[in-house]
Amino acid sequence: MNTLKLERQGRVVTVRLHRPHVLNALSAELLAELLDALRPLDTDPDVGAFVVTGSEKVFAAGADIKEMAGKSAVDMAHEDYFSGWEEFAAFRTPKIAAVSGYALGGGCELVMMCDLVIAGESAVFGQPEIKLGVIPGIGGTQRLTRLVGRAKAMDLILTGRTMNAREAERAGLVSRVVPDDRITTEAEQAAEAIASYSRTAVTAARECVDRAENSSLSEGVLFERRVFHALFATEDQKEGMSAFLEKREPRFTGR
Ligand code: HXC
Repeated sequence: MNTLKLERQGRVVTVRLHRPHVLNALSAELLAELLDALRPLDTDPDVGAFVVTGSEKVFAAGADIKEMAGKSAVDMAHEDYFSGWEEFAAFRTPKIAAVSGYALGGGCELVMMCDLVIAGESAVFGQPEIKLGVIPGIGGTQRLTRLVGRAKAMDLILTGRTMNAREAERAGLVSRVVPDDRITTEAEQAAEAIASYSRTAVTAARECVDRAENSSLSEGVLFERRVFHALFATEDQKEGMSAFLEKREPRFTGR
């Protein structure tokens, strides 16, 4: 792999974006390598969470401007440039972004495809595409608006200004802000906790939370209740509740 470093520890897989000479700019090669690496792991029952991170200075400074600059509209349409990011977004394994430094443009959009966002104090978020004569193209106008609301999304997308970690946390883009030297530990601890639970329950919980974006409250609550009922068909529900009553640690199998 040219653009990523992959590490597996127990049930957690950490992907480190690694194109330091271009601040981890997201190229087509990086996307292809990311999908090739994670696709088989997404269905591996022994993998419970992904952590996606960059370097101390930068998470990712956006899509690769050099790669895109010379393309025509027809090239972009024929290649359906970066449509593969939706495959990443749709992975069922929980994804945790551990962000230090810049998460701009496609970098911020990648963050928003993750389920948890652990940001260091140095993290900087923004959608500066307007300064390049374009707009966000990996879901930024849609996901940012859903996450932080129209007022702030318009501000960020139309002015191209950035937000620091604290503002991003207040706005709802970031789950937790921690000291920079803690982001990897904090993200891996969260990943290990998630990976230790019932894979079936975790998947169900993610699907229900995501459903909130796409349904009315009453439909969403009904969806949740039906999924909740269905989890009573799992061995893990019996194990989790028995373990509580027997005052012991549960042993989940994902069944
Ligand atoms: C390609 C990039 C890059 C990018 C940085 N580099 N960002 N190359 N694509 N997105 C390269 C620079 O050209 C430079 O190469 C090297 O990385 C270091 O960058 P500097 O600018 O010298 O670093 P610094 O002064 O620290 O500034 C950091 C920065 C700045 C503020 C993050 O690099 C920046 O503004 N980058 C672009 C951010 C951006 O506009 N992102 C949105 C991209 S569009 P050399 O060869 O000079 O050393 C996008 C749209 C998605 O994401 C839609 C897709 C369909």
